[in-house]
Amino acid sequence: MILDSIKNEVKTYPAYLTGEWQASNSQETIAIKSPWKHEVIGNVQAVTQSEVDESIEAAKAAQHSWAKLSLGDRGQYLNRWADELEKTKDDIATSVMNEVGKNFNSAEGEVQRTIDLIRYTVQEALHMHGESVRGDGFPGGSKDKLGIIERVPLGVVLAISPFNYPVNLAASKIAPALMAGNAVIFKPATQGSISGIKMIQALDRAGFPKGILSLVTGHGSEIGDYLTENPDINMISFTGSTKTGEHLSQKSIMTPLVLELGGKDPAIVCEDADLNITANNIIKGAYSYSGQRCTAVKRVLVADKVADKLVARLKTQVENLSVGSPVNDSTIVPLIDDKAANFVQGLIDDALAKGATLVTGNKRDGNLLQPTLLDNVTEDMDIAWVEPFGPVLPIIRVHSVDQAVEIANKSRFGLQASVFTQDIDKALEIAGAVEVGTVQVNGRPQRGPDNFPFLGVKASGMGTQGVHNSILSMSREKLTVINLKP
Ligand code: G3H
Repeated sequence: MILDSIKNEVKTYPAYLTGEWQASNSQETIAIKSPWKHEVIGNVQAVTQSEVDESIEAAKAAQHSWAKLSLGDRGQYLNRWADELEKTKDDIATSVMNEVGKNFNSAEGEVQRTIDLIRYTVQEALHMHGESVRGDGFPGGSKDKLGIIERVPLGVVLAISPFNYPVNLAASKIAPALMAGNAVIFKPATQGSISGIKMIQALDRAGFPKGILSLVTGHGSEIGDYLTENPDINMISFTGSTKTGEHLSQKSIMTPLVLELGGKDPAIVCEDADLNITANNIIKGAYSYSGQRCTAVKRVLVADKVADKLVARLKTQVENLSVGSPVNDSTIVPLIDDKAANFVQGLIDDALAKGATLVTGNKRDGNLLQPTLLDNVTEDMDIAWVEPFGPVLPIIRVHSVDQAVEIANKSRFGLQASVFTQDIDKALEIAGAVEVGTVQVNGRPQRGPDNFPFLGVKASGMGTQGVHNSILSMSREKLTVINLKP
């Protein structure tokens, strides 16, 4: 009886298919377990392939009239969506906290960042415009040819978001796709679906045309490849692991693809670095949300001469980090699941077995790992190369800037890098030499502000995000040539 009444409190969420909230015909749901409450907090639908087909058909139909609306009209829909999100900010933030274990302040920050991003995307799209070109600039061309270059939508965009930013990294795909005149099929990470659903409930309340967006929750094995290989999907924007990104790129032949994948961002610390600024940035960069961010600092390459001093500062700060429940605003929270915690523990064990020095940490209670700092990490250790997505930071001591750059570039990843130095010439030299999408001078790696381009190279991704670039990647040029005086 008691069990039954507890069970009854767990909500089952419908999917949003062709503009209607529906239970799936599969009659199957997927239980979502909180990583810190350790109990089921909701169930989501296991959507079928035929429901995916219906959603894509509805999206194609809705997209034609959506694209005919003026930019201003599309912008009004999106601004209403932002308004609706604002009204339910706390509820959505609570959902993010419960579902993916992000502390409440950060979860609320994520929702506010999303509201700001949607409004900015509207403004950005309103201010983007086409261009025209005369044909006389090319040998044999003529002034009588006038080319009008406009941007047109691609059609139906598939947006796939990760667990760690279930609201923001979904909306940062959905908003530019819609402003560019596309329809959207939104597939959230299963852990993160409830927060995604709440965000789309806000979109629904804003009164968008039916079918312009469908939210499909479900098993990757059932609908993952089915969506990716679907010929009626005209563009895919994915954020998640490198392994899944590589798989997507094999399946999505000829479909434009933007991928934001893993990272192994180095913090390169030079002899002349301001160690206060450096330590503060490294701690925030490495440990916030237990390091479950693609842009987390994932290795420190520090000049021998200042290594002891830096390690001492880091040790003190790591030991002062708050550890525990996301409701208490802890920095270190339980990892997304036991598998993730086992993986991180394996990397720590490997490093210690191979001679790394444990500065602090390496204690564990289920999926809650104490923040761990490892010194004297060497290149034969997995932690030197593998992305942990957890609260562990390896320190690699180097003799020279050249050696730091060499180790930085040996990684298969190339998302961001930080350089800490007071010498701007040296900073620029290192920035020029590291093979990454972004270099942060005297700051931690991070995606925002969201009007900046955001990109990774090598195994860290493909294509560029950020508001402006996302609108570009979700539209294409269309050239109309007026032949004057024919
Ligand atoms: O996890 C990947 C995110 O894009 C990182 O975003 O730098 O704002 O935390 P962030």
